[in-house]
Amino acid sequence: MSPTALVTGAGRGLGAGIARLLAADHDVLIGGTTADSVAAVSEELGATPWPVDLTDADALRTATADVDSLDVLVHNAGVADLGTVEDLTLADWRHTFEANVFAVAELTRLLLPALRRAHGHVVLINSGAGLRANPRWSAYAASKFALRAFGDALRQEEPDIRVTSVHPGRIDTDMQRAIVAGEGKSYDGSQYLSVDTVARAVRHAIDTPADAHPTEIVLRPR
Ligand SMILES: NC(=O)c1ccc[n+]([C@@H]2O[C@H](COP(=O)([O-])OP(=O)(O)OC[C@H]3O[C@@H](n4cnc5c(N)ncnc54)[C@H](OP(=O)(O)O)[C@@H]3O)[C@@H](O)[C@H]2O)c1
Repeated sequence: MSPTALVTGAGRGLGAGIARLLAADHDVLIGGTTADSVAAVSEELGATPWPVDLTDADALRTATADVDSLDVLVHNAGVADLGTVEDLTLADWRHTFEANVFAVAELTRLLLPALRRAHGHVVLINSGAGLRANPRWSAYAASKFALRAFGDALRQEEPDIRVTSVHPGRIDTDMQRAIVAGEGKSYDGSQYLSVDTVARAVRHAIDTPADAHPTEIVLRPR
């Protein structure tokens, strides 16, 4: 029987790249907000669609109810609401934290029995912004600092589960296109990390033999 993996936000961007690399030898659940957003990648990989809005606690409980054993959980889904402290509203802060922190904590909590059963691996897709905060990035960076703290605590609480925080710099995805548009600059995807490069680092962490615990990976564009 193949190991199982759940990748959130796997219908596009980095999540789709990670799902592609895992699908070779894992049964993969493809997370995304809607059935439409996960359909193409699920079909391409022969994987199982797992559409659920991660910020909907009831939906999350229902969607995780049948997961008995889980080898790999990749928390990849995320949002980036950028703006100065003066411009970011309370709604922006709540939106960012709901998706980037609270949903991760709740999904992990619901899946802990399944992860423990499999001696599983939790991968947290963080960011360079989880290590340093720049102007206009307060809400996003604060959410990623919180995500790092969550991972550090989880790692110590659950000795049978490996927890890896991955901190990539800018990646060539829809999220980066929107960020660059917000900065009023023109987009050149070749300046950024490719999805495949970051996905390979995630795959490498997962493939690390069990005597080692890859706790943190930092990748910057050259
Ligand atoms: N792009 C970068 O430069 C960069 C750099 C460092 C770290 N990261 C991190 O890498 C991760 C992936 O980023 P990306 O660039 O691939 O982003 P993206 O292209 O914007 O894709 C975001 C993904 O998250 C999913 N998602 C967002 N909110 C969700 C919710 N409430 N419920 C379920 N799914 C939700 C989206 O689902 P739908 O397709 O259904 O909308 C989509 O699949 C994020 O955690 C991001 O913070 C990105």
